[in-house]
Amino acid sequence: MVSKDSSKSSKKCKDEESCPEENPQKNVKCCLAVMSGKGGVGKSLVTGLLAVTLRKAGFKVGILDADLTGPSIPKMFGIKKRATGSNGKILPIESYSGIKVMSLNLLLDKEDDAVIWRGPVIAGAIKQFWTDVVWGDLDYLLIDLPPGTADAPLTVMQSIPLSGVVVVSSPQDLAVMIVKKALQMTRKLDIPVLGLVENMSYACCPKCGEKISFFGESNVDEITEQYAIELLAEIPIDPKISKLCDEGKIEDYDISFLNKAREVLEKALKDRK
Ligand SMILES: Nc1ncnc2c1ncn2[C@@H]1O[C@H](COP(=O)(O)OP(=O)(O)OP(=O)(O)O)[C@@H](O)[C@H]1O
Ligand SMILES: [Mg+2]
Ligand SMILES: [Zn+2]
Repeated sequence: MVSKDSSKSSKKCKDEESCPEENPQKNVKCCLAVMSGKGGVGKSLVTGLLAVTLRKAGFKVGILDADLTGPSIPKMFGIKKRATGSNGKILPIESYSGIKVMSLNLLLDKEDDAVIWRGPVIAGAIKQFWTDVVWGDLDYLLIDLPPGTADAPLTVMQSIPLSGVVVVSSPQDLAVMIVKKALQMTRKLDIPVLGLVENMSYACCPKCGEKISFFGESNVDEITEQYAIELLAEIPIDPKISKLCDEGKIEDYDISFLNKAREVLEKALKDRK
């Protein structure tokens, strides 16, 4: 159960029965989850870029990598150090620009060790990332959810007090149905959707700069209209992105196309209940 003095976290979690104990060593104002209906659409990338944008705007930001079987946040930020802890508390690792990161990768002996845990163990580990990590004072904790609408994302949504969700999609036809499924899940759990980020929306011709849509016309309008949500950003396919991610230098990317997303996230911080 949430203790009485935990009100500093934005709100109580959804499922009081399984609600983990609060951690006095954290004061997180706004927890936001980044979700996608399916894997590989760039959810981790969007989580990373949103964190970088907010950090550049002067906010205190953390990333909780809840994708335990495919953690990719530390690599993106070039974090090689292992996390340390004492008395049952774990210290997050700070990135180059001061973003606090916790990921299962930071706790494994070798970062490419495979994790073959069963559902309940995964759920327990995710809860511990919330309860046992010394997050300290944060304006935002961004949570990179595992892909899809299965157990693990559900665990996060029920056990961490979320102020909102950002949904990531890619412009393939097939993805529409899957995005809708993700949106239905957030509706059922009564978590506000801050908006949709479309990744790999287009590419720019290296010769003339013209926008090219690889996947045909985007159907993102259909989703945003039907669900009355905002389109926060359209991210191009950019070889620079994958290069910087591979090199662990995502913080060097110039992300002007996330300005609107940042404004919406700033509003979520101000308006949080
Ligand atoms: N817009 C883009 N331009 C170039 N490369 C991209 C772009 N978006 C994602 N990538 C690359 O595609 C790969 C997959 O992206 P990412 O890890 O963010 O996807 P994900 O949705 O988190 O995947 P998973 O479901 O496995 O967690 C990464 O290596 C990333 O560098
Ligand atoms: Mg990922
Ligand atoms: Zn051209």
